[in-house]
Amino acid sequence: MIARAIARERMWFDGALADADEIAVRPFTHALHYGSGVFEGIRAYETSRGTGVFRLRDHLKRFFVSAEVYGLNIPYDIKTLTTAIFDTLQANGFTSGYIRPLAYFGEKGISLAPAFNCPTHVLVALKPLSGSLLGEAEGVRVTMSPWQKTSSRSMPSTVKACGHYMNSILALQDAQRRGFDEAILLNDRGDVAEGTGENIFVVKNGRLRTNDASADVLEGITQDSVVQLARDRGIDVEIGRITPADLFEADEIFLTGTAAEVMPILRIDDYALPSARPVTTQLQHAYVQAVRGADPRRADWVEYAR
Ligand SMILES: Cc1ncc(COP(=O)(O)O)c(C=O)c1O
Repeated sequence: MIARAIARERMWFDGALADADEIAVRPFTHALHYGSGVFEGIRAYETSRGTGVFRLRDHLKRFFVSAEVYGLNIPYDIKTLTTAIFDTLQANGFTSGYIRPLAYFGEKGISLAPAFNCPTHVLVALKPLSGSLLGEAEGVRVTMSPWQKTSSRSMPSTVKACGHYMNSILALQDAQRRGFDEAILLNDRGDVAEGTGENIFVVKNGRLRTNDASADVLEGITQDSVVQLARDRGIDVEIGRITPADLFEADEIFLTGTAAEVMPILRIDDYALPSARPVTTQLQHAYVQAVRGADPRRADWVEYAR
């Protein structure tokens, strides 16, 4: 994934590439105190045409929508950030990896409402990542979290904001402390919401079901990709409520996310899912093809350096 050894990490910060060691965060940075930033998680993959970034435009669109909700003014357009991302990959010698654009309120007083007088900083950071962030195993063991998914009436779930992740941190730390890989959170109606950083799909009798923002989830770009890849293959997909009972009656369950990719669930607490996972396996393969630019029907999902 790293084509050649690069001595120093380079990141794009406020309009130019810089050495990561030289990017300073001021002590009264608003985002440091209050979590007032928004971000994206994007993947670059090696493809037959060189480094390709998966659904880059859709991620950047969501980034701008998230910023707008919190009054963050990103002083760059999609084209500039696209160039920044490819420049950052290249400056670090990465042919694949995990890309983190982050926009946040900087330093200007301690007011909770900084929008009108606080500078916005924009960072494009990069980490090596291959395969699923959830690990190399064939699937994950999850627990039903004692923590409830934050209601969108408190914080809008479709916005990918730094502070929203305190909810996920509580749930994942609890799950890992108890020996699980991941947590499933229910919303305030008792329906299944999502994982701490993934959407969820249930397979029953060959049909797929996943939920949407009405269940207080982030509308995942991987989720949307898997819905389209399934429909391309003639698999029925329903978008709607998922109840806890649906999980225990499912033939297969899997999680989706940019970092997690398509990851089967093996167990929920002490309940083991069936070990045959034909639909999940088919969609895992379809997803790998798509991110590598090898699905002709979805070739426009991958963007290449110009
Ligand atoms: C809470 C949450 N749900 C779902 C997802 C999946 O979203 P995506 O597929 O766009 O990465 C993520 C990952 O960003 C997430 O943090």
